[in-house]
Amino acid sequence: MEKLVVEKSPPLSGVVPVSGAKNAVLPILAATLLTEEPCVIEGAPRLRDVATMIRLMETLGVMVEQRADGSLETRLLSEERSTAAYELVKTMRASINVLGPLLAKRGRARVSFPGGCAFGPRPIDLHLKGLRALGAEIDIREGYIVARAERLRGAAMYLGGPFGSTVTGTANVMMAAVLAEGRTVIEGAACEPEIRDLAEFLNALGARIRGMGTPRLTIDGVDRLGGTTHRVIPDRIEAGTYLAAGAVTGGDVTVKGVAPGTLRSVLDVLREIGLSVTEGEDWIRVRRAGRLRNTDIVTLPYPGFPTDLQAQFMALLAVAEGVSVVTEKIYPDRFMHVAELARMRARIRKEGATAIVVGTRRLSGAPVMASDLRASAALVIAGLVAEGTTEVKRIYHIDRGYERIEEKLTALGARIVRREDPEAP
Ligand code: EPZ
Repeated sequence: MEKLVVEKSPPLSGVVPVSGAKNAVLPILAATLLTEEPCVIEGAPRLRDVATMIRLMETLGVMVEQRADGSLETRLLSEERSTAAYELVKTMRASINVLGPLLAKRGRARVSFPGGCAFGPRPIDLHLKGLRALGAEIDIREGYIVARAERLRGAAMYLGGPFGSTVTGTANVMMAAVLAEGRTVIEGAACEPEIRDLAEFLNALGARIRGMGTPRLTIDGVDRLGGTTHRVIPDRIEAGTYLAAGAVTGGDVTVKGVAPGTLRSVLDVLREIGLSVTEGEDWIRVRRAGRLRNTDIVTLPYPGFPTDLQAQFMALLAVAEGVSVVTEKIYPDRFMHVAELARMRARIRKEGATAIVVGTRRLSGAPVMASDLRASAALVIAGLVAEGTTEVKRIYHIDRGYERIEEKLTALGARIVRREDPEAP
């Protein structure tokens, strides 16, 4: 196993390129199950999760070739198999994205039931509710979701749940509905840019989806889909992570190849805590003069502040002036990083789904353990300003979602290296 060794770093400065969005490319790869024609996906990031999804696609009869420029070419070989096995699904929950496409195209799907994860329960009841509304028969057997349908039929449905809309649930039902007979209307659909990107990909294949990016999706089913070449949108969470890294060190960092319109709530927070933020069509620059100020953050479905940046911004607030309050409205238990940040001398108290962060001037480097992808990124950010050395262990989590994070940070002046970790189990 490997670890990242982070030293207190000078103010980061420079330009960092942002990769394609992980959470867009994963459902888009799954969507290629819906067509018999080849597709090309440009701008796919080189990530562990993408590699896992490629393996899963191959077990389902879709060959995925990775070209030198990083783009992925998919080609259907066989539609015989329709099982997403436990071994793959347990390593990546996003595997559930194949459920809707398999059901719609092959009439059957057997997908291992995803369990909880490091930040609590992650139910899929809304996925199943939407697919049942389209006429699927669904049973849970031996740890698998077993779904069947002759031909799905369009239906009107509401997909909101106790924590708002569901991103992957919307993706699953939308992918199933594009091949259903008649019209489907999804109310309470997720508005995340990654869902919009998926809808644009599907429409390029010949699907008829309207209302993309809004909570009301109207989908007119078609009989078959073709092929296309599609470039995935930039990763807004990766961009926000590098902006936070620049901000915490008091630096001057520009993220390039981003869509600033997808980061409005995040840029507002950066301004509130005292940063100067400027932007162009595809870049955002963040500079800091004085000390960071406190603020309150509430995570919400898009366009609200993303839960996937909550941990990284908590690391920022840990060294800001005054008291900040961070409330998690998507995953009330997504606070595993709190205890690790405390090992670095951060002063954070958790009260239910809220963390109260008392800013301190000095963090202290420590060995810390990454519990999930974004928590790992938060520990790296904290390590950049902590006195001494921070060792972030179990970094396979970080490789699931960040492409060459240590190289990108080093190019900005960070002192960070990847090392083998002989102590790891
Ligand atoms: C997606 O997960 C992302 N993953 C997550 O990113 C992200 O944190 C999350 O959306 C929220 O933005 C991918 O896109 C692959 P949800 P997803 O269904 O789709 C509840 C990262 O770090 N819910 O939108 O699984 C659920 O418990 C990852 O890159 C139900 O109640 O999340 C949660 O409270 C981690 N029933 C809320 O809805 C359901 O059937 C939102 O979950 C489904 C969800």
